[in-house]
Amino acid sequence: MTTAPQETVRRLRAGVIGLGWAGQQHVAAYAADPTVDLVALSAMEDHLLARFGDAHDVPGRFQDWQQMLAEAELDVVSIATPTFLHATMAAAALEAGLHVITEKPMAQNAEAASGMVEAARSAGRVLDVSFNHRQRGDVTALKDVVDSGVLGTLYYAKTGWIRRQGIPGLGTWFTKAESSGGGAMMDIGIHMLDMTLHLMGEPAVTAASASTHAEFGPLGRGGSGFGVSQVEEGTPFEVEDLATAFLRLDGGGTMLLESSWAQWIPEDLCYVTLYGADGGATIEWGGSPGNHKITVWTEVAGIPAELQPVVGEDGRHAAAVANFLQKVRSGDWAAHDGSLALRRAEVIDACYASARAGAEVRVGG
Ligand SMILES: NC(=O)c1ccc[n+]([C@@H]2O[C@H](COP(=O)([O-])OP(=O)(O)OC[C@H]3O[C@@H](n4cnc5c(N)ncnc54)[C@H](O)[C@@H]3O)[C@@H](O)[C@H]2O)c1
Repeated sequence: MTTAPQETVRRLRAGVIGLGWAGQQHVAAYAADPTVDLVALSAMEDHLLARFGDAHDVPGRFQDWQQMLAEAELDVVSIATPTFLHATMAAAALEAGLHVITEKPMAQNAEAASGMVEAARSAGRVLDVSFNHRQRGDVTALKDVVDSGVLGTLYYAKTGWIRRQGIPGLGTWFTKAESSGGGAMMDIGIHMLDMTLHLMGEPAVTAASASTHAEFGPLGRGGSGFGVSQVEEGTPFEVEDLATAFLRLDGGGTMLLESSWAQWIPEDLCYVTLYGADGGATIEWGGSPGNHKITVWTEVAGIPAELQPVVGEDGRHAAAVANFLQKVRSGDWAAHDGSLALRRAEVIDACYASARAGAEVRVGG
C-alpha cells in the first residue's frame, strides 16, 4: 500500500516586540499555532517578559529589541509597540531578513509608513499590518454577502466607532501627538475605514473633508485605563477625541466616517451601513464579543426582504497572524509589501490635513 506524501510545513521561528494588550494577542496567536515556535519576546517590563515567557516556554527574553533581532534567529516578528516605534523597528527587522507584521496603525504618518514599504521592497520580505477587526465573524460574513453581488454596486457607506468612555492610555504615548500620530481616528477610526473599504471592494479614496475635536481628554475625562503603558504625569492631551470625515471614493462613491474615544451616549456604538443599487446591509456591534448583528435588505423573487445572515466565528488577531504566516509561506513576498496599509495611512493623513485647513484635501496630494 502506498501512502500519499505528507505535505510538510516549514516551522517558523517567531518573536514579538511589545507586550501590552496588542502584543499579548500576537503571543497568543503564535503560541496556539503548531507550525510556529515562539522563541523570543521583547518588552521593557520584566514582569511581562517573565509572565508570558513562562506561560509559553519562550527561551529568549530581551529588554533590548535590537539584541533580540541579532541573536534570536527569527523568521518572523510581530511589532506591537507604541506607534512611533513601528517604522524604525520594522525597517531594522526587514533589513535583517525577517518578515514583519506590525500593529495598526502602521505608523504615526504616511511618510513613516512609506519608508516601511520601501524597506520591505528593498529587503524582498513580507510587511503586513494587523487589521484584526476585518477578521470578525460579522465582517467576514458580510464580505461574502457583498461578494455574492446581491447588493449590486455599492455607492455609499456610513461607518463609525463611538465609545462611551474609552480614551486609551490618557496621559501616555497614546495621547501625545508625536508618538501616536493622532487620536480616535488614528486608533479606532482606522479599523472602521479598513473594514468598510475592504467590504466595498477596495475603492481608492480620492479626497477627504474632516473635522477634529478634543472636548474630553484635555479635561482628564473619558479615560479607559486601557493598556500597560506608563502614565507620565503632566502629559498634555494633544490629539482629538472625536473625528468626523466625508470621503470621496474613486468611481463616484462616498463614505461618512466617525470615530470617538468618549461621548455622552448610552453605550459604545460600532457600525457599518452599506448602500447598494440592489440592496443595503448593516453591521451593528455593541462592542463585546458575541454581540454582533448583520441585516441585509434586498428583494427575493421581487418581494422586499429583510435577511439576517448568520455571523461567523470571530477570527481577530489569531486570523490576522495566520493570514500573515500564509503570506510568508506563499513565497510571493513582493505582493505583500504593506502598500494597502500605506493607503490607509494616506487617508488618515488627509483627514488631519483637512481638519487643519478647514477644507477638502486630495488624498496623497
Ligand atoms: N489591533 C488592535 O485592536 C489594537 C489594540 C490596541 C493597541 N493596538 C496597537 O498596538 C500598539 C501597542 O499598543 P498597546 O496598547 O499594546 O501599548 P502599550 O503601551 O500597552 O504596550 C506597549 C509595549 O511596547 C513595549 N515597548 C515600548 N518601547 C519598547 C522598546 N524600545 N523595546 C521593546 N519594547 C518596547 C512596552 O514595554 C510595552 O510592553 C500600538 O500601535 C496600538 O495602536 C492595536
